[in-house]
Amino acid sequence: MLFFTLLLEVIWILTANGALVSSNKRTSPHGQDHWPASYPECGSNAQSPINIQTDSVTFDPDLLPLQPHGYEQPGTEPLNLHNNGHTVQLSLPSTLYLEGLPRKYVAAQLHLHWGQKGTPWGSEHLINGKATAAELHIVHYDSESYESLSEAAQRPQGLAVLGILIEVGETKNPAYEYILSHLHEIKHKDQKTSIPPFNVRGLLPPLLAQYFRYNGSLTTPPCYQSVLWTVFHRRAQISTEQLEKLRETLFSTEEEPSEPLVQNYRAPQPLNQRMVFASFIQDSPYTAVWTGFHSRKNNRTFSLSEHGDQDSPTVTMRRLNCV
Ligand SMILES: *[C@@H]1O[C@H](CO)[C@@H](O)[C@H](O)[C@H]1NC(C)=O
Ligand SMILES: *[C@@H]1O[C@H](CO)[C@@H](O)[C@H](O)[C@H]1NC(C)=O
Repeated sequence: MLFFTLLLEVIWILTANGALVSSNKRTSPHGQDHWPASYPECGSNAQSPINIQTDSVTFDPDLLPLQPHGYEQPGTEPLNLHNNGHTVQLSLPSTLYLEGLPRKYVAAQLHLHWGQKGTPWGSEHLINGKATAAELHIVHYDSESYESLSEAAQRPQGLAVLGILIEVGETKNPAYEYILSHLHEIKHKDQKTSIPPFNVRGLLPPLLAQYFRYNGSLTTPPCYQSVLWTVFHRRAQISTEQLEKLRETLFSTEEEPSEPLVQNYRAPQPLNQRMVFASFIQDSPYTAVWTGFHSRKNNRTFSLSEHGDQDSPTVTMRRLNCV
């Protein structure tokens, strides 16, 4: 058992390192270099998305696990799903809100970013230079300070957006299917449909305690620098078929000639003077295992899990098995 566990850790390390793919080869989707000409804030110094370098983030023990409320049952009314020509967007009722941020942020909408057929990337945020296949954004606004999303969208920290990196896994993700199974009803720009309410919590990764936090912007014009970003460390998974459906169903145009709606991600923006905080300790898996040995000697066996593994007892157990 001991040997097997250590072997698992080693494989994990290799995968983590082998996966360090350079983002430089990603072509910037056309047009965005010209955004600042029409929308000056797009050229400002606290823009999103960013490349999160995990060896440069600052651990902040005050970053508590985020608690989504009302996500399991977003009411009984159908939800509005809309192809706006840039993305597919789902309206969310304000009964969904986040606890664990400086103020109460209520949900407004969620939408997706993705790449195109034949490429492995499509996310906006990168972690250590690596993009994933797609990214979900759940947009909230500070309802204690502002009356509406549009008012909050222009104020510092008026918005709180959850960024969920999406990768391809073995199985179909039933939560994402609630959205993806309706895309064929809204193939063209400005088309809308209604979908039954579903468990929105299912779109998030299983572990909400591990995340990165920074001040940034909307990733589309007008690029307002009003977003308190939470990018989860863990990823959500969808199947290959689901990714294909996302990338191959929608058009960015109303009618012929049809233009596929693909590659709607923005290139990473300079970090400049900003700090990126992490809610958890940023060791490499190798260091984490070593810390586990070390901690036990000092009667701090659980120190690793304190900062974020509470949703995932198996991770903790596996580390303990090593000792
Ligand atoms: C965001 O900016 C505000 C105002 O400058 C600052 O107080 C806050 O600490 C920053 N938060 C993060 C996560 O950088
Ligand atoms: C660890 O805890 C045990 C029992 O609580 C105690 O006897 C021992 O001295 C502690 N060791 C250290 C290094 O603090």
